[in-house]
Amino acid sequence: MNSDGQPMRQTAPWPVEISQHHSAHPPDRTVAVEAAALNKWFGSFHALKDINLAVPQGSRIVICGPSGSGKSTLIRCANGLETFQGGTIRIGGAELTGDEKQLQKIRRTVGMVFQQFNLFPHLTVMANCTLALRRVLGKSRSEAVGIAVHYLERVRIPEQAHKYPAQLSGGQQQRVAIARALCMNPRIMLFDEPTSSLDPEMVKEVLDVMIDLAADGMTMLCVTHEMGFAREAADQVVFMDQGRIVETASPATFFAAPSQERTRLFLNKMLR
Ligand SMILES: Nc1ncnc2c1ncn2[C@@H]1O[C@H](COP(=O)(O)OP(=O)(O)OP(=O)(O)O)[C@@H](O)[C@H]1O
Ligand SMILES: [Mg+2]
Repeated sequence: MNSDGQPMRQTAPWPVEISQHHSAHPPDRTVAVEAAALNKWFGSFHALKDINLAVPQGSRIVICGPSGSGKSTLIRCANGLETFQGGTIRIGGAELTGDEKQLQKIRRTVGMVFQQFNLFPHLTVMANCTLALRRVLGKSRSEAVGIAVHYLERVRIPEQAHKYPAQLSGGQQQRVAIARALCMNPRIMLFDEPTSSLDPEMVKEVLDVMIDLAADGMTMLCVTHEMGFAREAADQVVFMDQGRIVETASPATFFAAPSQERTRLFLNKMLR
């Protein structure tokens, strides 16, 4: 049981099928996401340069860096939303091949939360949360509703279930987006600047939910400039600039004694 008296979440096993083509080397399921020598170009623009990054199951990794440094591109590659031209990405030990069926299976194990909440505007909060449970996982209506209620309680807005996204504040919409992702019982949650489009007074309510998730042991890869979150919840902070990982360090080292001048310059701006 966790501190709320809720049962600890049981993560689903990685889909068996995604590992079959690597039978000679059983997939390392202890690593949720791993990018190795990842290179990506948009046309002639080299957006990701030799990225090596492993997100062990149960860890929290925060990515930060200036605008245009490739943070979103990296996180989108990690979910199969972007193609790449060099290197490999493994999710739960299985290499992303670009095969659409494999991608669909893998995406069920990866929750994604974007800056713009990407809720379906014509569906209620409850319908947003139950849609994939019913259509993708084939749950009955009552089971799907039960799961959705559980996670809407988890993000502290069970009373909003009947509303449409436009009737909610930005912070509430983002919490619905998190609940919707959690409903699929993901093995890892990817966040791309989940609080950066929110009014300041709503940032905390979303960060509090994310800190709860971290405390529960959720594996998280999170692009954010919320340095308080990084200090409190991250195991590692990754600093990117111009398509490269410049520095990876524990939050304590990252903030107190970064090894790279480029990181220091960035932190001076951020923490001013
Ligand atoms: N679809 C695209 N086509 C061409 N170039 C792109 C595309 N998407 C991103 N880029 C370029 O790749 C680089 C990295 O973009 P990305 O969105 O990953 O940066 P970011 O670090 O997330 O920045 P921000 O902090 O502003 O969100 C930028 O120079 C951007 O212009
Ligand atoms: Mg971005």
